[in-house]
Amino acid sequence: MRNRIDEILAQIETFSSRAAGEIEEFRVRMLGKKGVVTEMMEEFKTVAPELKRELGQKLNELKARATQKVSELKAVAEGGGGVKIAAEDDMTRPGAGTAEPAGSRHPISLVRGEIAAIFSRLGYTVADGPEIEDDRHVFGALNFPAEHPARDMQDTFFIEKDPDVLLRTHTSSIQVRTMLAGRPPFRVICPGRVFRNEAISYRAHCIFHQVEGLYVDEGVSFADLKQTLLYFAREMFGEDSKIRLRPSYFPFTEPSAEMDVSCNLCGGGGCPVCKGTGWLEIMGCGMVDPNVLDECGIDSKKYTGFAFGMGIERIAMLKYGVGDLRLYFENDVRFLRQFDSAI
Ligand code: PHE
Repeated sequence: MRNRIDEILAQIETFSSRAAGEIEEFRVRMLGKKGVVTEMMEEFKTVAPELKRELGQKLNELKARATQKVSELKAVAEGGGGVKIAAEDDMTRPGAGTAEPAGSRHPISLVRGEIAAIFSRLGYTVADGPEIEDDRHVFGALNFPAEHPARDMQDTFFIEKDPDVLLRTHTSSIQVRTMLAGRPPFRVICPGRVFRNEAISYRAHCIFHQVEGLYVDEGVSFADLKQTLLYFAREMFGEDSKIRLRPSYFPFTEPSAEMDVSCNLCGGGGCPVCKGTGWLEIMGCGMVDPNVLDECGIDSKKYTGFAFGMGIERIAMLKYGVGDLRLYFENDVRFLRQFDSAI
C-alpha cells in the first residue's frame, strides 16, 4: 500500500492540464466516489494495526495533495493565471524551481563600499559628479596649464573639442565641483568611474574606478595626510600595515607623493606580487596646490588641504589576490560567485 500511495503521488505531480474537462476527469479519478483515494481509504480498513499510524498519515497527505492539485489546476484553467492559495498552503515555503538564483555584489562595489565606510568613520561624506565633463573641471581648475604636457599623463577621450566635452580621467573633477559649490571645511571622498585611452591589458583598462579624497580646512598639514592614510591602510589591509611616501608630481598638489603600503601577502619580506620589494604602490596624494584653491574660490592664505586618489581595481586586486584586471569587466559568473561570502 505504501508503494501504491507513492505511485499515485507521483501521478498527481506529473499530471498537468488546462482543459476543464480533463481536470474534472482527474478529480473524479482521484477523489470521486469510485476514485483511487476513496478506494485506498476502503483498503486502509484492512491494514495491520501497527501500520495504521504511518499509512493513515500518508493517506491523508495523498488526499490533501490531490485536493490541492485540483484547485491549482482549476485556478490556472479559469484564466487567473495565478495559483489560488489554499488555507493549508505554507506561504513561507520557498517556491519550487521558480526562484532566481541570488546574485552577489561585484568586488568593485564591495571594495568601494569598504573604502567609503573607512573614511566615513573619519567624518568624510561621499560626493558625486558627472562622468562627462569639460576641460575646466578635469584639468583647468586643477592647475594643468593649457597645452601643458602634464595633460598627456592622462590620455583623455575627447567627445568634442569646441566646446570641449570629454570623459573624466580622474574623479578630481568632483573635488573641483565640491569646492566651487560650497565653503570650507570640506571632507569628502569622490568615488566614480573614470576613462583613459589606454591599451587594455592585465594591469590597465580604458575604464576603471577611483576613490579620491579631499580635506580642506584651516591648519590642515602634511602630518594630517600621513596619519589619515596610515589609518586607511591599517583598516583596509590589516593592523600591522606600514606605509611609506615617495616624492612624486601632480599638477594639483604640492608637495606630491606616491603612497606605498607594506605587502600584506609576504608581510614585507618580498614576494612576486610586490616584485620582491615588500611594498605595494596604492595611491597618489599631496597638499592641495594653492593655485587650485584660488581657482575654486577658496582663500589659500587662510585654508590648506590635502587630497589623495586611488584605483579601486588595484585595491581589490591586492585585497583578493586577483591577477588580471580584465576579470572585473567580463561578468564571468565563475569569477563573480567567489565574492558571495564577502558581502
Ligand atoms: N588624480 C590623480 C590620478 O588620477 C590621483 C591623485 C589625487 C593624486 C589626489 C594626488 C592627489 O592619478
